[in-house]
Amino acid sequence: MKKTNKFLSSVAKHQQRQSKEKFEGFLKDYLEILELNPDVSSLAHKRLYDAITHQGITRMDTSVSRCRKLFGAEALRTYDYFQSSFFGMEGALNKVMRFLHSASMKGEEARQVLLLLGPVGAGKSALVEHIKRALEATEDVYHIAGCPVREEPLHLIPRALRGEFENVYGVKIEGDLCPVCRYNLLEEYGGDYTQVPITTSSFSIRGRRGIGVVPPMDPNTQDTSILIGSEDISKMDLYSEDDPRVLSLNGAFNVGNRGIVEFVEVFKNEIEFLHTMITATQEKSVPSPGKQAMIYFDGVIISHCNEAEWNKFKAEHTNEAILDRIVRVNVPYCLEHSQEIKIYNKLLGTSDFNYHIAPHTLELASMFAVLTRLKPTNKVDALTKMKIYNGEEIIEKGQMKKVDINDLREEVRDEGMTGISTRFVMKSIDNALADSDKDMITPISIRDSLIKQVKEQITNEEDRNRYLAYLQNTLHEEYLKILEKEITKAFVSAYEEQAESLFNNYLDHAEAYVNATKVKDTITNEEMEPDEKFLISIEEQIGIKGSAKDNFRADISSYMFAKLRRGEVIDWRAYGPLKEAIENKLVGSVKDISRIVTKSKSRDNKQQKKYNEMVQTLIKNYGYNEDSAEEIIKFASNNLWRDS
Ligand SMILES: Nc1ncnc2c1ncn2[C@@H]1O[C@H](COP(=O)(O)OP(=O)(O)O)[C@@H](O)[C@H]1O
Ligand SMILES: [Mg+2]
Repeated sequence: MKKTNKFLSSVAKHQQRQSKEKFEGFLKDYLEILELNPDVSSLAHKRLYDAITHQGITRMDTSVSRCRKLFGAEALRTYDYFQSSFFGMEGALNKVMRFLHSASMKGEEARQVLLLLGPVGAGKSALVEHIKRALEATEDVYHIAGCPVREEPLHLIPRALRGEFENVYGVKIEGDLCPVCRYNLLEEYGGDYTQVPITTSSFSIRGRRGIGVVPPMDPNTQDTSILIGSEDISKMDLYSEDDPRVLSLNGAFNVGNRGIVEFVEVFKNEIEFLHTMITATQEKSVPSPGKQAMIYFDGVIISHCNEAEWNKFKAEHTNEAILDRIVRVNVPYCLEHSQEIKIYNKLLGTSDFNYHIAPHTLELASMFAVLTRLKPTNKVDALTKMKIYNGEEIIEKGQMKKVDINDLREEVRDEGMTGISTRFVMKSIDNALADSDKDMITPISIRDSLIKQVKEQITNEEDRNRYLAYLQNTLHEEYLKILEKEITKAFVSAYEEQAESLFNNYLDHAEAYVNATKVKDTITNEEMEPDEKFLISIEEQIGIKGSAKDNFRADISSYMFAKLRRGEVIDWRAYGPLKEAIENKLVGSVKDISRIVTKSKSRDNKQQKKYNEMVQTLIKNYGYNEDSAEEIIKFASNNLWRDS
């Protein structure tokens, strides 16, 4: 019973804490609290903004290459609260936070609806859910006890005293008592507002406290009671029609007061239905059911929808009044494949499957997803564009290709609003797993699964052909390159050291060549001429021929010199083109043996031993298991070294 006892003691502590936290008092107690901490009376936008930023704001480090390459010199803010669950959407998150920030300072945004617009599966719902959870984690909110809309206790203060109150506390009071509280004040407390009890309660999505959700509604059953509550028929016999005790204030705007009201797929609703939303923003109040006065509303209205619905809605000119009230933030798909991988890792982490994912599997799926989302350009091929959007250096003919990401971005509008969704990929992953009898997925099986799913589901002929070409050609080639390097690494013992030593040798000899000096042998101290044959053997790996070598050597020497002068550490990966040359050289050095050893039929004993060593390296150092190593080696031997 040890475990149970331990857990029960936690239960007891939890309950104790819960009961202790509940505040009970009157206006005078509340004012004392307010004097110490004016934030207790924050309006909803500020409360939410503080809840999120409270977790930390980080300025993106412009010395980090991802930031420099993708976001320019502008040091974007990132919000720690989103960092561990949302990837590659800093742009959209910044705009959402900018909205909340202005609204929290009572700018015009406080009277606007936030609209997240994006394709399915771009993370809109997940984002709103996460935002709502930020509220759940905040301090409890003070409100008039028994108030169905949990209203601000300061509403008790009569108009005549509000000017003085504002001078004393520096806090402006917005809004008046709701019909229920006004009735109670008069009937139960004889108009003595100092006697009205005040309490606190938490925000809760499930408890519908401070968070109201409006799902898209079938036009036939659409009823504004979802938004503003209704009159309770069972009480109609007891009270007169204009008695607030007949009110059942449980609509989304009632429960969402002081917090958030979310409109899911907002434009699926009939336009009449949305008028309440507009009133809520324009007048900061919503109608009461029956004959009562309007009810003050303070909340953040967040809505989301996809582009088709938005376009249809926008086209109706009768909707202008609403359009005027909307702050739109595009939430496109992630366009950086290294960030997209993180999304799948996150989604897979939540299910408790026990399976093996071979290296590069999610990378390949992510590359595919991003390729489908990018619009073609004449400037570069699709794969190159994908890499540029990922912040990678592009090497061409021994040089770093200068393509400005901004030029590519400016060519197109609304990129990332089409293409395949994260769900499409997740489904392919599930299918690949279901088809596997070894409880694993590999780049090979995910590609097959994606091809199958594209054939089944993408009906637009043009898209379908383009997607299939990515999978069958572009990514097939790309994966073979990745695979060849991987197998080389497993074959070359001490790969890193060998690469490093090629790099150092190359630099020594190239520098000597450029300065017309000699190279000193580190062991014998003998001086010798730069080794032309060696230099060429590296340069030819990336197609540098003839007189181009002089430039290349000069470029490298000055590049490295500049880096060293800045005190930067350099290693063999420091200069893109040289890195590629070194990798190719190492790949070439084991090509023959790779070919022979990976052919299972012709292996002799010695080769078998070499093969086993390679498999062990793949498993130990590179994250494969027995089965996936075998599968990729077989694939390599069938595809990489087929012709010889
Ligand atoms: N950029 C992203 N970062 C993190 N997760 C994402 C991202 N894009 C999509 N997702 C995940 O994909 C899933 C589907 O997203 P969802 O919020 O339902 O999309 P939407 O509401 O836009 O159709 C969610 O689990 C979400 O967490
Ligand atoms: Mg959604």
